[in-house]
Amino acid sequence: MGGSGLVVRDLSVGYGPVRAVRRVSLEVPEGAVVTVLGSNGAGKSTLLRAVSRTLSFHGGAITEGSVSLGDRRLDGLAPDRVVAAGVSQVPEGRRVFARMTVADNLRAGALGAARSGRAAALARVHELFPVLAERSGQRAGLLSGGEQQMLAVARALMAAPKVLLLDEPSLGLAPLMAQRIADTVREINAQGTSVLLVEQNAALALRLATRAYVLEVGEVTLSGPADELAASDEVRRRYLGVVDEDAVAEADADAERAGGVRRTLTRWRG
Ligand SMILES: Nc1ncnc2c1ncn2[C@@H]1O[C@H](COP(=O)(O)OP(=O)(O)OP(=O)(O)O)[C@@H](O)[C@H]1O
Ligand SMILES: [Mg+2]
Repeated sequence: MGGSGLVVRDLSVGYGPVRAVRRVSLEVPEGAVVTVLGSNGAGKSTLLRAVSRTLSFHGGAITEGSVSLGDRRLDGLAPDRVVAAGVSQVPEGRRVFARMTVADNLRAGALGAARSGRAAALARVHELFPVLAERSGQRAGLLSGGEQQMLAVARALMAAPKVLLLDEPSLGLAPLMAQRIADTVREINAQGTSVLLVEQNAALALRLATRAYVLEVGEVTLSGPADELAASDEVRRRYLGVVDEDAVAEADADAERAGGVRRTLTRWRG
């Protein structure tokens, strides 16, 4: 793989004695949308923090492996140099600067990047998110959750990244708003930005991505083309909430044979 793809090789990360990510390798080819699925605590945010070099703010460190963008090694750079190299992160929990105006939040996002591209970047995010142009002078904390997520994405785009790292952009949003964010991710990608999308919402992520990785307790346990993963039994059962009726019936029968204790819990059906 050449060009300016993002390559993570044998990456391990620890928070003190806690090993959160173990020998993870993945690639985001230039122009692609790649997703990392996994449950709570799987190591998704840790992986993104390792790429953006923001791990140290959380007390973590890379213990082995490498991260590179094209020919350029990113591990070892300071976070602002990673932004300058073309990788911007939208952190978990849409952390916008609540007391600053929308316009100042966007300005802050452009800090790591070349001054020359700022007007174009601002025009781009205002086109993607017209509401941010309308609310330009308003404090970010007054925006709705969905609007704050838009602002968080827009702020990352202000640095005109080659690769956008998105940490659970749909979390806590109503389905319609989550879909709008998904549409925007598609649009951003169509404009030439590669995307590494971390999600618990596997259904949404697998629709957007061409390639997917499943992370479990810090390790990649499954990877492949997104459509193949979406069709696999394991992913359907564990991440898409598809109930395997045969397995449920079997478990019921087992329980009855084992002494008549019927299952009282049923799986949540989405
Ligand atoms: N700042 C931290 N200090 C110590 N341990 C941490 C820290 N952040 C995360 N961890 C641990 O590292 C592991 C991976 O956490 P991480 O936040 O990367 O998971 P995640 O997949 O993003 O989960 P979620 O879906 O809940 O956001 C977990 O065991 C977690 O408890
Ligand atoms: Mg996380």
